[in-house]
Amino acid sequence: MALRKIIDYPDRVLRAKAAEVTAFDATLQALAEDMLESMYDANGIGLAGNQVGELQQIFVMDCADRDAPRTPKVMVNPHVIWSDENQSNSEEGCLSFPEQYADVTRFEKVEVKFQDVSGNWNTEHLEGLQARCAQHEIDHLNGILFIDRCSLLKRRMIVRRMNKLRRLHSSG
Ligand code: NI
Repeated sequence: MALRKIIDYPDRVLRAKAAEVTAFDATLQALAEDMLESMYDANGIGLAGNQVGELQQIFVMDCADRDAPRTPKVMVNPHVIWSDENQSNSEEGCLSFPEQYADVTRFEKVEVKFQDVSGNWNTEHLEGLQARCAQHEIDHLNGILFIDRCSLLKRRMIVRRMNKLRRLHSSG
């Protein structure tokens, strides 16, 4: 297993659409393990393929409390097949936007159909934080970011901060 570098906004890979996974092999298994390790290392609760430069439809997540046992999930070729009509607004962050947060409206409950790393199809009913996280990660696989779903004012503020951060890094 190895840590993968997490790519920050505004890298273009975050705007690309990930391709469907067709090879359920050892490489995919290793990618899933690396992504989980990288997510835990960065104290995140979700990480999508795009964020480690792999344009494949795969994301990992674990919304358990820090001190609770780990509950890693890996979803390949995921899509939402049902969503509750109720939506809720809550603060979100993203590992590709260090220390940036914004309120985003998401469905409270969703059903996600996905394949595991062996290619078997599953359906999971998710609620609350898990539902929010899965919607955020599926957005990533379509090149959509949480800043696309927050207020214009907040989006401008975050984009400005991220551009400033990039200039700082590239100059030093
Ligand atoms: Ni994210």
